[in-house]
Amino acid sequence: MNKLLDFFAAVHAPFLHARGYAGTLALLRVLQPVPGERILELGFGTGQTQVELLSRFPALELHGVEKSPRMLAAARRRFRFCGLRPNLLQRYETTLPYPDGYFDAVFCESVLAIVPDAELPGLFAEIHRVLKPGGRLCANESLWREGTAPATIAEINETCLAAFGLVQASGAYPYPADWQRLGENAGFTVRTLQSLEAVSDQPGPMLPGRRWRAALFSRWGWLKKKLWPRFRQQERRLREQEQQFAAYGLYLMGWLLVFDKKEGTT
Ligand SMILES: C[S@@+](CC[C@H](N)C(=O)[O-])C[C@H]1O[C@@H](n2cnc3c(N)ncnc32)[C@H](O)[C@@H]1O
Repeated sequence: MNKLLDFFAAVHAPFLHARGYAGTLALLRVLQPVPGERILELGFGTGQTQVELLSRFPALELHGVEKSPRMLAAARRRFRFCGLRPNLLQRYETTLPYPDGYFDAVFCESVLAIVPDAELPGLFAEIHRVLKPGGRLCANESLWREGTAPATIAEINETCLAAFGLVQASGAYPYPADWQRLGENAGFTVRTLQSLEAVSDQPGPMLPGRRWRAALFSRWGWLKKKLWPRFRQQERRLREQEQQFAAYGLYLMGWLLVFDKKEGTT
């Protein structure tokens, strides 16, 4: 249980990752889903990207796993609100609940870099296991800017762990080259390490059909945050903390990371 994630779940917060909606569109451009593919999202949060993807590619078999029960419940509510069946969304603890070679692709947004450092190689191995040979892992993750001192990283992460229960980004794998090594050690080849800084901002997802309903669901959460005293108080506290730690964002940069599982491997 994490109070910050629980708050985001309660107010249906969407796109909790580098570059928000524009970051999601950039990720979808590299993911390049093909109708009929079986795809897994790791750490879908309140599920806005799931709806975005299903609206654009209804013939996908899209699965999702989440660690947070409250995020899972919020995403299920979003699905029902959008007229989708949430039966392929589930919770998991350590082992991905799928057989070997099950997915064409796995993707995530702002998940891997906040996983405890000691768990990261094991999670990469699990993702590699559930991918088909030739399958891809696409991630939008915030990493430390080159040259950020290890002492600064440690200090920021300790402060954020104490305040929010989450680190800002991995301390053991701070830079893109470390992620290249992580991927290669798990058996992947690295296709893309691309900064998200050049991605241009996009208008919010006020779009037809389910995406419009998903945006309305996020707006409803935003209203809860503005109107319910409990959430207003939580938001005020969060804003104060964000102001206090605003400078930390200058040390981070969003990256699109694409890894391929080699053909002929299990
Ligand atoms: C910063 S939020 C991002 C949520 C969502 N991807 C988005 O961009 O809005 C991180 C999410 O990852 C989930 N998470 C953290 N570790 C995870 C893991 N090992 N497996 C699956 N989900 C995880 C958290 O519960 C949380 O919902």
